[in-house]
Order: sequence, then C-alpha cells, then structure tokens
Amino acid sequence: MNSIIASEIVKKYRTSFSLKRLFGKREIVQENLALDGLSFSVNSGEIYGILGPNGAGKTTMIKVLATILLPDAGNLEILGYELPKHESKVKEKIGLALGEYERTFQWRITGRQNLQFFASLFGVPGEITKDKIDETLALVGLQDKADKMFMEYSTGMKHRLAIARALLNDPELLLFDEPTAGLDAKTSREVGNMVRKLTKKGKTIVYTTHRLEEAGNLCDRILILDKGKKIAEESPGNLKKLAMETAILQLDLNQVDDEIISEIRKIEGVKEVYATAPNTLRIQCDAINGAVYPILDSIRSKDIRINQINSLTPSVEDVFLKLTGGKA
Ligand SMILES: Nc1ncnc2c1ncn2[C@@H]1O[C@H](COP(=O)(O)OP(=O)(O)O)[C@@H](O)[C@H]1O
Ligand SMILES: [Mg+2]
Repeated sequence: MNSIIASEIVKKYRTSFSLKRLFGKREIVQENLALDGLSFSVNSGEIYGILGPNGAGKTTMIKVLATILLPDAGNLEILGYELPKHESKVKEKIGLALGEYERTFQWRITGRQNLQFFASLFGVPGEITKDKIDETLALVGLQDKADKMFMEYSTGMKHRLAIARALLNDPELLLFDEPTAGLDAKTSREVGNMVRKLTKKGKTIVYTTHRLEEAGNLCDRILILDKGKKIAEESPGNLKKLAMETAILQLDLNQVDDEIISEIRKIEGVKEVYATAPNTLRIQCDAINGAVYPILDSIRSKDIRINQINSLTPSVEDVFLKLTGGKA
C-alpha cells in the first residue's frame, strides 16, 4: 500500500518588494521555483529518504506533505486522503519534526512540560496524555532527563525531544527534516537507531538529509533531489555503488594555474577539477585507477611538484555530478 502518492508537485515562492523611489509604483516580484513537478510515492512501513544539497527543496517538500504549505500545482494523496480536501484528517495522522525546532520549544520549562504543552495543543485526550508522554520519552531515551529544563539539554537531547513531540499524536506517518543536522556522528547514529525502531512499530517515515552516507545506511529507498527535480530514485545498494564509483582526489601541489586545471579536465574519466585552496586541487573522476596516472603524468610534465595525494569520501554533490554527467 502507498502512504504517499505525490504527482507533479510544483511550489513557487514569490517574494515581492516595491522600490517606490526608483520605479514609481512598480512592484518587483521575484519567483523561486522550489519544487519543479516532483513525483514520487512512499510505501507503507518504509523509510523513504529525500537526499539533496542545500536549496534542493527538501524542506519545502516536507512542509507540503505536512500540509503547512499549499503547492501551486500537482496532486497529493496521504494515507488514502486527498489533499488539500482532507487536510484535517491528514494532520491527525502525521507527525512532523522540522530541523528548525529550537525556536518552538520553551527554554525555561522542562522537557516533560514542553511535551505536555504540545499534547494539549494537538488535542491528545487528557486521560492518556501522561502515559503517552512517558511512552514517547522512553522511546527517545529521555526518561531520566524529562524534568530538566529544555535550555540545559544538549543538542542531541533537543533533537530527541523534537522527535518525541512528533510522536505524541501516535502518527502513522512521520516526517523528519534533516533530524541529524548539526549532530556529531555518535548522536546521529542514535537518531538513526531511533528511526529504525519506529519502523518496527509500523510507522512510515520520510527522512531528508544532505548526507549521502546517512541516506545509504538508513533508508529503504532514496529520492535524489536537486533544484526541485527528481534526479534519480535509488536503493541504498545502488547509492553506495554510485558513491564508490565516484573517486575524489585531492592534490597538494607547489603551484596551481589555469593551464594545469584545463589540462587535467581533458583527461578521460575526469569529471571536474577545481582549486579548493591556492595550491590544492580537488578532482572528481570515474575511478581512481583509470585517471590517476594520466593526472600525475600531466602534472609532472609541467614540472609541478606534488606534495601530497589524498583520496576523499564523495559528497552528495559529487554523486549528483556523476548522475547528471557533469551538467549539474
Ligand atoms: N520562504 C521562502 N521564500 C523564498 N524562497 C524560499 C523560501 N524557502 C525556501 N526558498 C527557496 O526555495 C528553494 C528550496 O529551499 P528548501 O526547500 O529550503 O531547500 P532544502 O531544504 O533542500 O535546503 C531554495 O532555492 C530556497 O532559497
Ligand atoms: Mg532544508
């Protein structure tokens, strides 16, 4: 069964401002196409990842799914309900944890009091509130810290409280927008484990991230998003393969000029070359084996000294470049 069917979703942001003194009454309208005909579907019980760099449209898509933003075009069905017609039905059945959670919690009350406040806001019946709050606190591992003030929480604890809040109405579908942004590796793994635990309880999850590795480790399927468009939909295995086939070389040289950059660009298998520091080149190629010797030869033939060679882990942008053939 499908939990979400999104077809051809378009969302534009319009920012208008008038420059009266310069242009009389004319109003300048700037349009920003955040979602450009995006289609996908999410199966019940899966962790569906949306992977993309900054500005790809991840938060916008999550807000559309959460019925916070109305799309300009397209059709959307969530848990069998059509939107925007059945907005209130959908709201009852979804939980949302946005990355920008901090401003929405009260800093001078405890974690538990914060959850009590939101439970009443969400209309959780009074007689089950206490049990529900205890249950969600335990699920996110905050039972011992429940009576500490929010402002004393670590970043990881704040993130976990945001997840607990998203669970208060016992949602079928959970929407997570970059829940590990700003977290260290260990805390990120904890969040990941928590998300997995939720799927064991039968929840469906949409999870956005800009981290390739995280998407590959956690999600069942991954939508790769760029500039509001679907670039690909991959299994974690394929994503890892793509990452492995994307080699990044970092070379520290004693000098870098435009000539050597354009020479390296011409080498077969080289996708992109640019200087990340005055004497440092970052080179993306299909595979280390094929391209590395020609690259080194061309540098040596220019009498440039190589101080250091490193192989780096590819980022989501690197995999995009590979998927879009360098036209990203
Ligand atoms: N409130 C807004 N007003 C105008 N443009 C916006 C607004 N929110 C986001 N955008 C633009 O929409 C695009 C997608 O943004 P967003 O959904 O936040 O991407 P992501 O979450 O993947 O970083 C970006 O180009 C961003 O600048
Ligand atoms: Mg975002």
